[in-house]
Amino acid sequence: MSKITFSIIKADVGGYPGHSRVHDDLMDVAEKELADSDVLEDHYVTHCGDDLELLMTHREGEDSEKIHSLAWDTFQEATEKAKELGLYGAGQDILSDAFSGNIRGMGPGIAEMEFTARKAEPVVAFLMDKTEPGAFNYPIFKMFADPFNTAGLVIDPSLHIGFRFEIWDIKKDKKIMMETPEEIYDMLALLGAKGRFVIKKVYPKEESKLPADEPVAAVSTEKLYQVAGEYVGKDDPVAVVRSQSGLPALGEVLEPFAHPYLVSGWMRGSHNGPIMPVAEKDSQCTRFDGPPRVMALGTQLKDGGFDQPADLFDDPAFDTVREESANVADYMRRHGPFEPHRLPLEEMEYTTLPSVMDELEDRFEEVED
Ligand code: F6R
Ligand code: MG
Ligand code: MG
Repeated sequence: MSKITFSIIKADVGGYPGHSRVHDDLMDVAEKELADSDVLEDHYVTHCGDDLELLMTHREGEDSEKIHSLAWDTFQEATEKAKELGLYGAGQDILSDAFSGNIRGMGPGIAEMEFTARKAEPVVAFLMDKTEPGAFNYPIFKMFADPFNTAGLVIDPSLHIGFRFEIWDIKKDKKIMMETPEEIYDMLALLGAKGRFVIKKVYPKEESKLPADEPVAAVSTEKLYQVAGEYVGKDDPVAVVRSQSGLPALGEVLEPFAHPYLVSGWMRGSHNGPIMPVAEKDSQCTRFDGPPRVMALGTQLKDGGFDQPADLFDDPAFDTVREESANVADYMRRHGPFEPHRLPLEEMEYTTLPSVMDELEDRFEEVED
């Protein structure tokens, strides 16, 4: 059996209204494009907030020109529809006019991994809006490396040896491989700086019963404002995670989201706020354009295809988390323009400060000791 590739490719090609959510007609356009394609094994179209999300399985491998051009054409079609409907920010994440074989660096976000599917293969797609790729550092670390989250690391011999992490320095375009549990202190020194170091992939270790060269988790790491050189929209990330038998159990994969931890990217890409785990139907960013949201869609792969995904946060077990998230949102909002609700100057997506400084420059005087 050939390997299967699970790809999530997403873009914000227009919001309805504002930056809150995707119009149903855009999802219909995307559904039709993907349904008409003969290169996919299966697909599912959804949205997280204002991001149009394409979940696809295929046999073309990672970075496939066929798959990337299918996604690119789909976003182009959806952009046309967005213009026709007068949607907000039509085509905002489509930064280039011409497709040149690979969608990376052109605006959309991509998380994909190729692997040999096991007899039963549970996969979870995580979709986030109003935040950045580093928002996945905390939950992915907890799933694969924190024994207080993942009981299997302590009590299941097949997980006990730990995992291998591929971590990217997105400011310097470098990457490093690190292993858990041996290197967790050094790893956390990097991963806590989530605006710079991001987990790209997780692999089994050599001694594991799973192939060591096939990823078990992958995160999108595109940073739109670095691609464009100026602020053009958010780099809302997505991730795909495999689970069970030698990997964290489904419940261990979802458990990190029981804490509404703080992420960057709320309102104007310039604020910190709590992540809120939501169902597909509640995936719209309303309050102060947020708070940042995360969805979890779970499937079982079967011969390369999958059934209707299960909407895993559509569950009263996450009600208290949502309530806590709303309370933390209240608390953070009361800071108004003050840090740490507002991001430090150098991390804000866009800011009026340079023009304010220009205007005030002549009025600044030396301070005498
Ligand atoms: C977009 C986002 C929003 C916008 C805000 C201002 O994903 O994060 O918070 O930054 O709504 O948008 P503009 O500048 O388009 O009016
Ligand atoms: Mg938007
Ligand atoms: Mg978005």
